[in-house]
Amino acid sequence: MSNEENRLSWNRLSEYYQSSTYISLDDIHYGPYSPGEKELNIIGDVTGLDCLELGCGGGQISIVLAKWGANKVIGLDISDKQLEFAQSLAKKADVDVTFIRRNMENLSLFEESSFDLVISVHAISYVENILNVISETFRVLRTSGRFVFCTLHPIQFVLWEALEENTFEKIYPYFTSTRDSWDWINDKKQKIATFGQTYRRFEEWINGLITNDFEIERVIEPRAYTMKQLQEMDLNTVPYHDKKEINEKFVRVSQIIPFSLIISAKKE
Ligand SMILES: C[S@@+](CC[C@H](N)C(=O)[O-])C[C@H]1O[C@@H](n2cnc3c(N)ncnc32)[C@H](O)[C@@H]1O
Repeated sequence: MSNEENRLSWNRLSEYYQSSTYISLDDIHYGPYSPGEKELNIIGDVTGLDCLELGCGGGQISIVLAKWGANKVIGLDISDKQLEFAQSLAKKADVDVTFIRRNMENLSLFEESSFDLVISVHAISYVENILNVISETFRVLRTSGRFVFCTLHPIQFVLWEALEENTFEKIYPYFTSTRDSWDWINDKKQKIATFGQTYRRFEEWINGLITNDFEIERVIEPRAYTMKQLQEMDLNTVPYHDKKEINEKFVRVSQIIPFSLIISAKKE
């Protein structure tokens, strides 16, 4: 599936996604049922920084950056509907964020060295050419600027379904980078939209950053909170979760393998 097909799918899914998912406006999330920025402290102080979010969706992370004192925040996404939601959310939150519709593979509208922070959470795997995103990000970052991205962990593609369904038949090969399509199923078991995602091996992420002259600062494989922790917590402090009920299957599997991979890389 192409970027354009993904755009149409996100337009179709947006309303359901935004109404069925809790995404914090007080913390930056790094995946479902997992600790966010306040606990992991990956980005740190953003006061005065010029920030770009790639694949900003409903704009929640961009809004948090603006609330935390960033100087300038631009949220970029390919989906018109996601951006409509983002615009109205930013208005309600009374923050200044600029939203732009654009494929993140092409950042030519930004001059070289325009940002101190480029962040992307669970969006980069949708693009067709991830290496373009890495090189474009390097170009638009200032020296000492950081690229922080959170994406599907390489092991997630290989084992997630097998662990969810308790079957070896759903184990996928690790060694082939795959562009695969998958369906978004709603709580009534209806298919809402189909997406294309590219699964990359760990070495591809790391080498993609190294060959583009990034210095890798930190690699984080967050473990989701346990069911017991979630039951004892105020769910509003869990930055990303299903609104209706806790997805117990997700929480169980994410105690065995990580769902997300987070990498913080610096332009030196
Ligand atoms: C799972 S949502 C994540 C949104 C947001 N980062 C968050 O964590 O809430 C993925 C987003 O990536 C966007 N996206 C997918 N492919 C893209 C591309 N090539 N360029 C820009 N945005 C893209 C989709 O439109 C969607 O809003």
